[in-house]
Amino acid sequence: MSIAAIILAAGRGTRAGGGLAKQWHLLAGRRVVDWTLSAFEMTAQIDHIILVLHPDDLHIFSPNPGIEIVTGGETRAGSVRNGLEALAARPERDIDKVLIHDVARACITPDLIAQVAQALSTHMAAAPALPVTDALWTASDGRVTGTQDRTGLYRAQTPQGFRLAQILAAHRAFEGDPADDVEVARAAGLAVHILPGSEDNLKITMPEDFARAEKVLRGNMDIRVGSGYDVHRFGTGDHVMLCGVPVPHTRGLQGHSDADVGLHALTDALYGALAEGDIGQHFPPSDPQWKGAESHVFLTHAVNMVREKGYDISNVDVTLVCEYPKIGPHAGKMRASLSGLLHLGENRISVKATTSERLGFTGRGEGIAAMATATLVRP
Ligand code: CTP
Ligand code: MG
Repeated sequence: MSIAAIILAAGRGTRAGGGLAKQWHLLAGRRVVDWTLSAFEMTAQIDHIILVLHPDDLHIFSPNPGIEIVTGGETRAGSVRNGLEALAARPERDIDKVLIHDVARACITPDLIAQVAQALSTHMAAAPALPVTDALWTASDGRVTGTQDRTGLYRAQTPQGFRLAQILAAHRAFEGDPADDVEVARAAGLAVHILPGSEDNLKITMPEDFARAEKVLRGNMDIRVGSGYDVHRFGTGDHVMLCGVPVPHTRGLQGHSDADVGLHALTDALYGALAEGDIGQHFPPSDPQWKGAESHVFLTHAVNMVREKGYDISNVDVTLVCEYPKIGPHAGKMRASLSGLLHLGENRISVKATTSERLGFTGRGEGIAAMATATLVRP
C-alpha cells in the first residue's frame, strides 16, 4: 500500500495578479511550483506525485520522470477529481491514501507533509488547521456592524489526507462548489481529524503574499559545512592522481584505490556535511571490488547523496600539502575536472596547494596530505 500526493496547479491565480499564473512566479530563486514539488519529493512517505495543470500550461512544465501530469478542470474540485480519477485508473500501483495540496502553499515542509501522512495511519482523514485567534467582525461599507464568536473556528490548510477510495466516491457524489476537500469528505459523512497547521504554511493568494512566502522560504534555508582530510604514502610509480588529474612525478601514491588524496578528502567533506559517515564506511577497503577503483566513483556517490537529500553544493575548497610535485601548473585542470564531477561552475571550486616548509612527513616527501571543505545549501 502506498501514498500519493495530488498537487493542484490548474488555477489562473487571478487575485495574485501578473500575466503569468502564480504557480510560475519566481520565489527566492525558484518557481512556486518547484518549491512545492520539492517538499513532496523530499518526503519519504510519498510514493507518487500527480501535478494537475491547466490545459494552457502543459507546455510550461518540462517532463519530469518522477511526476505524473494530469490536466485540470474548470474548478478546483474539478481538478481534484481529475487527479483522483487518474490514480483510480491505475489500481496496479496499489495506492490507498492520498494527500491533496494547493500548489500555492509553497512554504509547505516535508515535516508537515509527513505528519499528515502519519495521521492517516490512525485516522481515516486528516488535515492541518490553526485555531482563529484574532477577533472576528462583521462589517459593511468599511464599518464594523457586529462581532462574531471565534470559539471552535479554524483556518484550514492543505495538504488534506484521505483514503483514496473514500474521497474519490465523495467527489463523485458531491454537487456544488466546495471550499476544499474536507467539505467534500464531510458531505459524505467522513470524520476528519485536525492536526496543528503552521503559520508558515501560507497560501499565496494576493500580490503581497509573494513577499511573505519568500521571507519564510529564505528563513528555512539549511546551510551545512563539511571538512575532509586524507593522506597517502609515496611508493613507486611515474605519476600521482590528484583531483582526478594524472600529474607526472618520479613516484606514485600507494593506496587501495587510485589513491587520489584530493578526491578522497573532498568526498569525506561532502559526507561530513551530510553527517553520513566517511568514505571507508561507504566503500570498505576490505571489499576487493574497490581495489584499484578510480576515486571519481566515490565522489559521484557522495554528490548523488547530496542531491537526493535536496542540497546543492555551494562551493568546495581543496588544499593539497606536498613539496613535490608542484601543483600550481595543474590546478586549472584539477578545477575543470572537479567542475565536471560536481556539476558546479569553476568559480565555486578552489584547488590550492602549500608546502609544509620541509617539516613533517609531507616536508620529508613521504606522502601527500589533502584537506577539503564543502558548503551545502538546501533552499
Ligand atoms: N486550482 C486548480 N484548478 C482550478 C482552480 C484552482 O487546480 N480550476 C488550484 C490552484 O492552482 C490553487 C488551488 O487550487 O493551487 C487553490 O486555489 P486558489 O488559491 O483560488 O488559486 P487560483 O484559483 O489559481 O487563484 P484565483 O482564485 O485568485 O484565480
Ligand atoms: Mg481560485
